[in-house]
Amino acid sequence: MPGNLDAITAALRGFSDTPSLDARLHAQSGAPVSAEEFVRRRKAGEPVSKILGRRGFWKGDFIVTPDVLDPRPDSETLIESVLKCFPDKSRPYRILDIGTGSGCLLASLLGEYPNAAGVGVDISEKALAVARKNAHGLPAAFMRKDFAAPDFARGLGAFDIVVSNPPYIPTAEIAHLEPAVREYDPRAALDGGADGLEAYRHLARECPGLLNPDGVAFFEIGRGQGADVRAIFAACGLDFAGAENDLSGIERVLMFRRR
Ligand SMILES: C[S@@+](CC[C@H](N)C(=O)[O-])C[C@H]1O[C@@H](n2cnc3c(N)ncnc32)[C@H](O)[C@@H]1O
Repeated sequence: MPGNLDAITAALRGFSDTPSLDARLHAQSGAPVSAEEFVRRRKAGEPVSKILGRRGFWKGDFIVTPDVLDPRPDSETLIESVLKCFPDKSRPYRILDIGTGSGCLLASLLGEYPNAAGVGVDISEKALAVARKNAHGLPAAFMRKDFAAPDFARGLGAFDIVVSNPPYIPTAEIAHLEPAVREYDPRAALDGGADGLEAYRHLARECPGLLNPDGVAFFEIGRGQGADVRAIFAACGLDFAGAENDLSGIERVLMFRRR
């Protein structure tokens, strides 16, 4: 197949919702993936980002592999929420990203706050290797940490800004997700336990010890989880400090402060 836009667009019609965008992303990527292979893998349902190994998020272009969640436009709501809450971009904030995955949240925030420094933690060493590459040249440290472990906070210190987009899909719902998510995003990035809220219970327990007195924690949540997540954090002594909707009008980010 000639590797031109029209041929790829035509071949993907009926298989992809965005055939011409897919073709353009392939053309612009410079990835060593032939037009034939690109079309074959797209037709099998693989996301463009996983085929090309890159995904745009906020103002950056990030490496993605099968070991990390594809950064989602919804998660940009987290970045917007932080920027609204901390408008002085010159301050030397300490930022913690829990479940950093590709590192897209931490790297994007460090791009906005030139004097800040950050720590990204994840249970997956393979994800951390991707995050380190994505944050190359930025003042970020990455370490393996399990937020469910009793010693999670040991050695981390306190932060002005804590962000997390934890796994929040109820286990039983994973089988019903679209194949592009179910088969190509890592299970550890999706599975939030029986009710989808398991990660928030751990994070709420850890949060008071991780925040500076004026610090704020920002959590992405799934559709309809707001009331339950508010209750979980209130029970751990955190004050609700606001919420932000995503572009579809769905409550997507909750903010908490120390009481
Ligand atoms: C939904 S993904 C978010 C990735 C990235 N922050 C983003 O927004 O695109 C959740 C991340 O949490 C990590 N994770 C899952 N369980 C964890 C645990 N117990 N401790 C630390 N990280 C965990 C996963 O490996 C995954 O990278």
